[in-house]
Parts: sequence; C-alpha cells; structure tokens
Amino acid sequence: MGTESLVAAALRVLNTADPVDKARLGDKVATKWQQGLITTPYDPSLDFSVPDRPSRLTNVKLVPPSLMPKLGKAGSLQSRQAIVHSLAHTESWAIDLSWDIIARFGKQEAMPREFFTDFVKVAQDEGRHFSLLAARLEELGSFYGALPAHDGLWDSATATANDLLARLAVEHCVHEARGLDVLPTTISRFRNGGDNQTADLLENVIYPEEITHCAAGVKWFRYLCLRSRDLISASQEVGAGESDSMMETDEVIRRFHGIVRTYFRGPLKPPFNEAARKAAGFGPQCHSQDLCESLLPIARWLRVQLALHLPQRSLPCAFPAIEKPIPVPPCCRSDETRKMIASQVTSRNVTLWQPLERTA
Ligand SMILES: [Fe+2]
Ligand SMILES: [Fe+2]
Repeated sequence: MGTESLVAAALRVLNTADPVDKARLGDKVATKWQQGLITTPYDPSLDFSVPDRPSRLTNVKLVPPSLMPKLGKAGSLQSRQAIVHSLAHTESWAIDLSWDIIARFGKQEAMPREFFTDFVKVAQDEGRHFSLLAARLEELGSFYGALPAHDGLWDSATATANDLLARLAVEHCVHEARGLDVLPTTISRFRNGGDNQTADLLENVIYPEEITHCAAGVKWFRYLCLRSRDLISASQEVGAGESDSMMETDEVIRRFHGIVRTYFRGPLKPPFNEAARKAAGFGPQCHSQDLCESLLPIARWLRVQLALHLPQRSLPCAFPAIEKPIPVPPCCRSDETRKMIASQVTSRNVTLWQPLERTA
C-alpha cells in the first residue's frame, strides 16, 4: 500500500461492501493522504475502471422513493429510528459519492491536487457521519438495515457519470444544499421530541461539516466553468483564479441553470426524476418558476454562508431570480454554532464565492 495512489485506494473503498468497513477504510486512506503517506493522486500510466455501482451490502432493502415508509416528525421512538436510519443511509451513499468523484473524474479531468484534498476531506466527514448515526441508531434500539431505503442519490450519480460539471451541480451542490435546507427542521423536531442527543449530533457535528461539502461543490463547479473558458489554467490554484468580474458569475450561474434544466427535467426518467425534482423544490407545472425554485437550495445555502460571515450586513440576493429574503435557519443563530461553522469554513480554507460576497 506504500506506493498506492489515492485513486487506487478510492477504488478499494468503493469496492468495500460493508458500510462500517467502508467508513473505516475511507478514514484510513484520508488520514494517509493528509499526512503525506499517499503521495500521488493517480498513476498516469495505469488504466482503471470505476464500478458503475459501488459494493453495498444486500441487507438494506431498496424500494422506490414513493414506497418509502413515512418518517414522521420525531415525536415517537419509531419515527426517530426511521429518520436516523434514513440519514445514515444518505451518509452511506455520500461516502461512495465522495470517493467516486475522486476515482471517476480526478484523472479524467486532470483536476488539481486541491480537488483531491477537498473531496478526501468530504469523504472522511461522510464516513464519520455514517458511523455516528449508525451508532446512534443502535442506541435508539434499531440498526442500519432494519428499514427499507431508496437509491435516489445513486440514480443521480449514474445520470451524471460522464460529466463532472453535472455531477458537481446535482450531487455536490443541489443535493448537499437540500440537506442543509432540511436539517434545521429535523434538529428542531428531535429537540421537540426530547431527543437532545440526536439533535446535538446533527447540529454540532453534521450540520457545520455539510456546509463545507456544499462549498466544495460550488467551488469546483465554478473552477470548471472558468477553466473551460480559459479564465483559469489547469494547474492554477482555485483561489488564484478568483476574479470579481460579474460576467464570470453570470456565466457560472447560466451554466448551472442549464445543467439543472437538463438533469432535473426531460431526459431523466422516474424514480430519479421524481426524487431529484422533489429534492430541488420543483413544482409540477410552471417551468420558469421551476427553474427559480431549483436554485432555491443553493441560494439559501449562500445566504446562510453570508449571514455567518457578515452577520451585521444586509444579505444580497444570491441569484437574480430569487428576490425574497430567506431567513437563516434557527439552528445557525446561536453564537456557539455560528462560531463552529465559521471555524470549519476557515480551517478548511473553504473559498466563498467572492463576487457574491463583495456585493454585500
Ligand atoms: Fe454527511
Ligand atoms: Fe455531505
């Protein structure tokens, strides 16, 4: 393993079926990369194939999203078990998604080293989230695999398997942002239901880290947009390519619109379509409104970011199409949480979307 590349190690994680082992191996690989014990992202002379679908245990029964049992509002033990089970399942897919983006696109798109480092960190976080939620589920008297789950996240991964820009927009921007949208409500429900332990886990560990995941998606989406227009070179660091040109921002948003339109509409069939449209906040009929609503999670996330960093200033509208102010979720309002999120963002050197920040 001494000379193993990061991509080779990522493939071993993807080919590990048991999610507990997957998380553990992922953490080991991530630590080695961070400590410089794995030195090369990939071997340019080696061809490798990334599995269409990562190894998974068969003990989790998969059903279409429409047949998923109701989760409830965390008012009963049964509902709390169902919600934690569903969150653990999402995290198990998030582990695979993070290693998959590294293995599938890192070499193919000649991504800079920083790309690998960012998604290694995301992968390590997702593994920790899974392990903590699976452990909490057992404390609640259940276990991962006790309930059915659905595969919406991997359906989106399959649909975006040939397009890094689309993968980033769909999985690492919209789905991650959607997670941020719903977590504050979930946290409140656990608190109201008297389960402060789960609420604390979600609020103090998972929520702050998920913000950095969404930031990574936006950062690399923007990087690819700029690189494709020769506004940034392949070897250039992301921060070095920052520009305050609003035209660039418009270009990034325009491409994001295009991808959302492509991947959340026509060509994709249910159940992906249904899950993704739902996740993105689509209404069933109004097309122009659909497009605006599809950006809502991203806009909301940007507002949260801006509110955290510029708490005294009025918040700009992140996207021209969205004019209504979106309040900061209640769980972001405490000083302690705010500090924790700010330190996560700072310590991981997450690049905020500079032009938007400057409009404040
Ligand atoms: Fe997570
Ligand atoms: Fe995440």
